[in-house]
Amino acid sequence: MRHETLDSAPPADALPVSYDDLATQLDHLLAGESDVVANLANTAALIYHGLPALNWAGFYLLRGETLVLGPFQGKPACVRIEIGKGVCGTAVARRATLVVPDVHAFPGHIACDAASQSEIVVPLIRRGAVVGVLDLDSPLLARFDAKDQAGCEALMAVLLRRIGDTPV
Ligand code: SME
Repeated sequence: MRHETLDSAPPADALPVSYDDLATQLDHLLAGESDVVANLANTAALIYHGLPALNWAGFYLLRGETLVLGPFQGKPACVRIEIGKGVCGTAVARRATLVVPDVHAFPGHIACDAASQSEIVVPLIRRGAVVGVLDLDSPLLARFDAKDQAGCEALMAVLLRRIGDTPV
């Protein structure tokens, strides 16, 4: 007997990679679910499997003055990052997205996976307050550009809209 759903599922490498498609998928994925951990976990999974050439995708959440590891896909990572430290903590301090073409040239970069060569970190800012960051790592140098910055910021806008005022 033929199983349409399984037979028609695209292979992982054929998933859409346009940021518009990802934003639509993310919006549907998060619709109707209010649990923040579940929504962050599915967001990390969608991004990790939807964008090419990533070796880590996930969240650090602000706990007081410290970023603490949240839901992610990839190898186990460092758990705590102080504001102002590493790429993640610097993005929080500057309240701005950081695109780092070569992590080894970034002063204070925190190496969690030796494979990482480039990185993008997008702060999650809700009602003027940073609540965490999205962190993407790539094994390729200069993997992320302005298009990725705009796309990732748009994805985080979808996430923040879906999460609303639920505590993160
Ligand atoms: N490289 C980051 C640390 C987190 S890992 O990449 C998952 C940083 O420098 O903040």
